[in-house]
Amino acid sequence: MSGFTAHDVPDQYGRTALVTGANTGLGFWTAVHLAKAGARVLIGSRSAAKGAEALSRLRDEGPDSEADVLQLDLSSLAAVEDAAGRLGDSEEKLDILVNNAGVMMPPYGTTADGFELQLGVNHLGHFALTGHLLPLLAAAPAARVVSVASIAHRDAEIFFDDLQAEQGYSAGARYGQSKLANLLFTFELDRRLRAAGSPVRALAAHPGIARTELTRHFPGPVRLLAPMIGLVLNSAEQGSWPSLMAATSPEVDGGDYLGPTRFREMSGPAGLASSSATANDENVQRRLWEASVELTGVDPLARI
Ligand SMILES: NC(=O)c1ccc[n+]([C@@H]2O[C@H](COP(=O)([O-])OP(=O)(O)OC[C@H]3O[C@@H](n4cnc5c(N)ncnc54)[C@H](OP(=O)(O)O)[C@@H]3O)[C@@H](O)[C@H]2O)c1
Repeated sequence: MSGFTAHDVPDQYGRTALVTGANTGLGFWTAVHLAKAGARVLIGSRSAAKGAEALSRLRDEGPDSEADVLQLDLSSLAAVEDAAGRLGDSEEKLDILVNNAGVMMPPYGTTADGFELQLGVNHLGHFALTGHLLPLLAAAPAARVVSVASIAHRDAEIFFDDLQAEQGYSAGARYGQSKLANLLFTFELDRRLRAAGSPVRALAAHPGIARTELTRHFPGPVRLLAPMIGLVLNSAEQGSWPSLMAATSPEVDGGDYLGPTRFREMSGPAGLASSSATANDENVQRRLWEASVELTGVDPLARI
């Protein structure tokens, strides 16, 4: 169960996938390889123009691709609910949901609902999206929800006393919080799905370090070094391999966490990844779940 690359994606004909933040970066390549394997792919993009441009590039990569754009902004709960409603109108089932979109270390900001931007987009938006889409996922025979976390979760904590960073903002600590939240959510969701007898499974993945637009909020001199990342670590395409493994490999199961297998999980083909003690703490998982239900007003399991 190691050494997975895009070449190992099994036949996906008949399956439908939504990848959030698929107009660029890892999400784009995740969408490309799912489409090349035969899946019908929906490119989640907050910008309709960027989504259309990505659809055209995806068709350059795989001319026979069956793909479309779903306009989806995760920084507004109303927009998330609206996008999920549109998806429900056009699809009978959803086999793969890749919660990939993310923002890293921006200046302090809030979503439309007043959530700190990184927690709001990276975790709470995806929490609500997954909840709204669970009936569609449950309509597929063996759907998977894949959330994209990060090595950055390892030293992170959930600031339960100040979830929205109203008492002080550290961009790095809040990015770590949001990526830890992705893992806590995955493990809690998978356990709850199993307890409810649902066929849907939740998995997580991380890309190691990959060259994408994620460093857009870094200072100019640091951004200049970004091209080096693709040379020595992962290209954006290689960074999609763990997500592809989590979404499609018959060798993985709900609750698994996949990442690159070379030096400190930073690059290379995908396999099982390691997660921190906090990520595996069931009390923290439950506490974050309850806070997320309260903040979003979405109780995912109540919908299936
Ligand atoms: N690259 C790495 O080394 C690395 C390492 C660990 C984890 N990750 C994780 O991998 C995931 C993908 O990141 P990436 O590296 O591919 O970065 P990226 O190239 O910056 O792509 C991020 C995607 O998320 C979208 N997005 C941002 N805010 C959004 C919002 N409010 N609503 C909907 N979509 C939004 C972006 O859309 P726009 O283009 O419109 O902004 C873009 O499509 C993220 O979750 C990130 O935390 C990446």
